[in-house]
Amino acid sequence: MNSSEGLEGKVALVTGGGSGIGRAVVEAFVGLGMRVCVLERSEEKVGGLDGLGDSVRAVRGDATSLEDNEQALSQALEEFGRLDTLVCCVGLWDNLVKMRRLPKERLHAAFEEIFSTNVESYVVATKVCLDALVESEGSIVYTLSNSAFYSDGGGPLYMASKFAVRGLLTQMAYELAPKVRVNGVAPGGTATGIAGLSSLEQEPMLGSEKMQEGIKSINPLQHEFTPEDHVGAYLYLADPTLAGGVTGVIINSDGGLGVRGFSKPGGMV
Ligand SMILES: NC(=O)c1ccc[n+]([C@@H]2O[C@H](COP(=O)([O-])OP(=O)(O)OC[C@H]3O[C@@H](n4cnc5c(N)ncnc54)[C@H](O)[C@@H]3O)[C@@H](O)[C@H]2O)c1
Repeated sequence: MNSSEGLEGKVALVTGGGSGIGRAVVEAFVGLGMRVCVLERSEEKVGGLDGLGDSVRAVRGDATSLEDNEQALSQALEEFGRLDTLVCCVGLWDNLVKMRRLPKERLHAAFEEIFSTNVESYVVATKVCLDALVESEGSIVYTLSNSAFYSDGGGPLYMASKFAVRGLLTQMAYELAPKVRVNGVAPGGTATGIAGLSSLEQEPMLGSEKMQEGIKSINPLQHEFTPEDHVGAYLYLADPTLAGGVTGVIINSDGGLGVRGFSKPGGMV
């Protein structure tokens, strides 16, 4: 079966589609003949989507805002006439800041910042897109992380936020069956410029060479991930002809962290 068969002509909304993993998903969707609406807070990244042509419409807005999500959905429905897939890619990282190092006086602000971005935005987008997805019998793909499964992929704030999305996914897959499939992708550490928490004055740190070397050395496949490495998982889960019977599932795209050994990351390393 041609893998583009089930996605051609379909319409997606991608939150946080202006860079990194979200942008790679947008490009792949367009390449398969889909039309895509993007909700993205960075003006510069919105401008950077222009080159993808008429199949993409970008709304500059905050994915934690109900109104901005509604505007993005309206844009998708007005321009493209339907919505088949919601992909949530918005996210902030906590730069691995440990509990002992979290400044007490900024704890509340940091918690609010990461939970509103990493969790509330997923809840809001789901709520806003629900009716359109029920109508199309479409699907949702959330972005989780190795931090939704194993310790130390972030500090306590990031870890808690990604486990929360796993809970949301499980409940949504139940509540929305049999009309809407709800699945997720859990990428491992990937070379992107993911932002840290402004409440903690964190600079992005993930794309650095040292960080990438570290990520490569701990995963069994010794893989150095780019955003494109995860795209196939999103395409599969969004495609009703390939994954029409799949819901409540998370694909771990992390180089095999779940089979990591104690003495060495992999048997042949
Ligand atoms: N990079 C990694 O190592 C990694 C690993 C596992 C999971 N993830 C997850 O992948 C997702 C994408 O991250 P990425 O690494 O591609 O980073 P990224 O920063 O390139 O992508 C996130 C996008 O979301 C946008 N964004 C952030 N907050 C927003 C808001 N409130 N409203 C609208 N847009 C907003 C950003 O501008 C950016 O374009 C996140 O959920 C992240 O937690 C990343």
